[in-house]
Amino acid sequence: MELSANQIEQFNSQGFLFIPSLFDADEIANLNSRLPSILSDRGPKTLRERGSDSVRSAIAPHLDDEVFQKLSLHPRLVRPAQQILEGEVYLHQFKVNAKEAHDGEIWHWHQDYRTWYEDDGMPQPDVINATVFLDEVNEFNGPMMFIPGSHKNGRIDSDNDFERVPEYGRLSADAVGSPYKQETINSEIEKHGIAAPKGPAGSTIFFHGCTLHGSGPNMSPWGRAMVFSSLNKIENFIRKPTRPDFLALQDFTPLVPLEDGCLRRH
Ligand code: SIN
Ligand code: MN
Repeated sequence: MELSANQIEQFNSQGFLFIPSLFDADEIANLNSRLPSILSDRGPKTLRERGSDSVRSAIAPHLDDEVFQKLSLHPRLVRPAQQILEGEVYLHQFKVNAKEAHDGEIWHWHQDYRTWYEDDGMPQPDVINATVFLDEVNEFNGPMMFIPGSHKNGRIDSDNDFERVPEYGRLSADAVGSPYKQETINSEIEKHGIAAPKGPAGSTIFFHGCTLHGSGPNMSPWGRAMVFSSLNKIENFIRKPTRPDFLALQDFTPLVPLEDGCLRRH
């Protein structure tokens, strides 16, 4: 799959691109058949919500699960990343955020690149995320929210004294506070508004490492699992990792996409 010039222009102006139903029902059923086993892992790669046993994030499932490994090499994710970043890419991070029914908690407003610059020594914001919906995302189950165009600011240093906890601990830092003061976020929202793409399972959002984003809690009876594949330009490999290598992956080999039907069972 190739992105059109129009889609690339939209990504560059908005800082994100939403493609409804990029993966079909069979491909999503194949991925979802692996989730119970991935989410039941009790090891350090599984982060839980505050005060509950619900899974917040399952980190790097592609290292142990062959179906998620195929998704990590899927041409419908890798090829758009190569087009947007204009070069070869490798996987910087790969995770499932479960946002479980009734229990899924908030992700405060943040930029991913700020963390990747500070914690991993990533030199430039030449990095994108591809976010694949494993469930339908609606207005009730904690859709992701983006501030369109906010990526044009580049990296924004934190201006808030937020509580920092090790991201590989029980919680990710984005659960306990935003790195930004409300005024900083408010002025971006006044200028650009908020977008919250919603759609069927299989829909995918590509977004820039500097696009401000977050999500509210999930108070609904419907889970909102999403995969986040963070694709970094080869030359932009991380220079000073401080986190475990399942969070900041360190295989800098260029990804070679598999064939387009690799996730289909029928
Ligand atoms: C993230 O920004 O890393 C996660 C956001 C979400 O799962 O809603
Ligand atoms: Mn994020």
